[in-house]
Amino acid sequence: MLTARRLVKRYSETEKPAVDHLDLHVDEGEFLSITGRSGSGKSTLLHILSSLIRPDSGEVLFRGRNICTAPENIRNRLRGSEFAVVFQQHYLLPYLSALENVLLPFMDGFAPVGERHREAARAVLRRVGLEHKERSRPGELSGGEQQRTAIARALVRGARVLFADEPTGSLDSATGASVMHLLRELNADGLTVVMVTHNEEFARLSGRVLAMADGRIAQPA
Ligand SMILES: Nc1ncnc2c1ncn2[C@@H]1O[C@H](COP(=O)(O)OP(=O)(O)OP(=O)(O)O)[C@@H](O)[C@H]1O
Ligand SMILES: [Mg+2]
Repeated sequence: MLTARRLVKRYSETEKPAVDHLDLHVDEGEFLSITGRSGSGKSTLLHILSSLIRPDSGEVLFRGRNICTAPENIRNRLRGSEFAVVFQQHYLLPYLSALENVLLPFMDGFAPVGERHREAARAVLRRVGLEHKERSRPGELSGGEQQRTAIARALVRGARVLFADEPTGSLDSATGASVMHLLRELNADGLTVVMVTHNEEFARLSGRVLAMADGRIAQPA
């Protein structure tokens, strides 16, 4: 589904590349975990794969098309439709309810959100187990519920691939485990998941684990 070839990303001329001639292939329906020490380039890789940033060189093929050189509007559209991204922080808007946060990707200026979109948002909130919390604001939700709301918002437009950068990083282990359980369920439903994690136990619960070191995929021990 996704193939990265010879990816290079440098943030400065004087430092080593954050991602250094990296090759990677992600199959459709896979649940891939990426581990590695702080600074090894995991987030940079995830941001390139999810088309948040462009590499200096190399390519990422999504369904056979190089998304790195695609125009910005195509990349934006990809992130809004096929790709979903979640982070350690949930980035929910505090003054909106859970349902309104999930509706954000559909908001377009002051145009009212249609009933079809409302139904889609309710369905995905139900999918993450939060239908009873749709009126709650983020401050009234637990950390795990906040992260599940953020996942719902990321998926509401029907993404096929979820990129998650330490989605359990700011949660206690039991709450993190519940988010991990949700990601596994979503993967079982057909969602391709690429997750960066420091948690080895959670990594082992995914389908495949790759370790990064110095901007490259480390050879398996
Ligand atoms: N926006 C940036 N500007 C300059 N340098 C950056 C930037 N983002 C990352 N770096 C550098 O690139 C390297 C890789 O960073 P990256 O964030 O990809 O690592 P990481 O593996 O995600 O680390 P962590 O586990 O701490 O999140 C580091 O040396 C980092 O300092
Ligand atoms: Mg990181």
